[in-house]
Amino acid sequence: MIAEAYGPSGHEHIIREVIRDEIKSLADEVRVDALGNLIAHRKAVGATPRKKVMLAAHMDEIGVMVTHIDEKGFLRFASLGGVFANTLVGHRCRFENGIIGAFGQEKKNSSRTETQLDKMFIDIGARDGKNSPINVGDAAGFWREFTDLGDRMIAKTMDDRIGCAVLIETLRQLKKSPHEIFAVFTVQEEVGVRGATTSAFGVQPDVAIAIDVTDTGDTPESNTMAVALGKGPAIKVKDSGMLAHRGVKTALITAAQENKIPYQLEVLTGGSTDAMAMQVSREGVPAGVVSIPTRYVHTPSEMVDFDDAQNAVKLLVAFLGKPIKLD
Ligand code: CO
Ligand code: ZN
Repeated sequence: MIAEAYGPSGHEHIIREVIRDEIKSLADEVRVDALGNLIAHRKAVGATPRKKVMLAAHMDEIGVMVTHIDEKGFLRFASLGGVFANTLVGHRCRFENGIIGAFGQEKKNSSRTETQLDKMFIDIGARDGKNSPINVGDAAGFWREFTDLGDRMIAKTMDDRIGCAVLIETLRQLKKSPHEIFAVFTVQEEVGVRGATTSAFGVQPDVAIAIDVTDTGDTPESNTMAVALGKGPAIKVKDSGMLAHRGVKTALITAAQENKIPYQLEVLTGGSTDAMAMQVSREGVPAGVVSIPTRYVHTPSEMVDFDDAQNAVKLLVAFLGKPIKLD
């Protein structure tokens, strides 16, 4: 299951095999590069391929890495990506070997709002630190099961497994494209878009699109943001790592309008995506982002709307099915 599979940054080997199984019949060639990116190539249909298009969705999830095991068996940890202490208390993590732990915090001087990661630990139920089934350097992701609420869904890792699912479904629904398509399931996005950096250099695309989550402004007293769940995929204008290429942004908007697909415009003040790396690859690549509006990003309960995901697939299929004009 894509949403529940283990895959903290740098540890994407399990989720990669889950996705490889899904896409192997949907591509002409599938390979894995040196960093672990899964690259599916779909050849252009027609005599003159128009553009080389790279689509990127990251496989990795935020998580924690064990830094120290004390004599009682409590695990101290560092973060892998943007993990916030206030999202951990009362939650659980799961290691690659299936061991599940509860996050606890020191009682000394602690308040629920001011907890720091270095005042927290993981309790795997050990009686002592001898023969721990966990080693220093082991990584864990959050542990929660996928929940289907009907119109909406919750998972520990909608960021960015919903993007992976949208990309897989796009390959499935895209019967033919005049473009060379490289669907890349990237590694290590959450620790600094590292997989996108190397895979974009290797693919050398003419156009690049990331598929990732974005924040919303539709919950009580939330930050002001003109993105809401259920109002369509968001076409990125800007985030803290990039300004979307004007031509790519306009081409996505045109594809949405021509096909009567609902869409929103996204200006995100904190966070970025793989497009930030793809855009500055080599001599520069026109890049944009199709974002899935997501509540509670970087918590163990990230929520998305099913129709937004479906409409993101429709938008990508429409965009890739025709020549792309970038002016
Ligand atoms: Co993220
Ligand atoms: Zn993401």
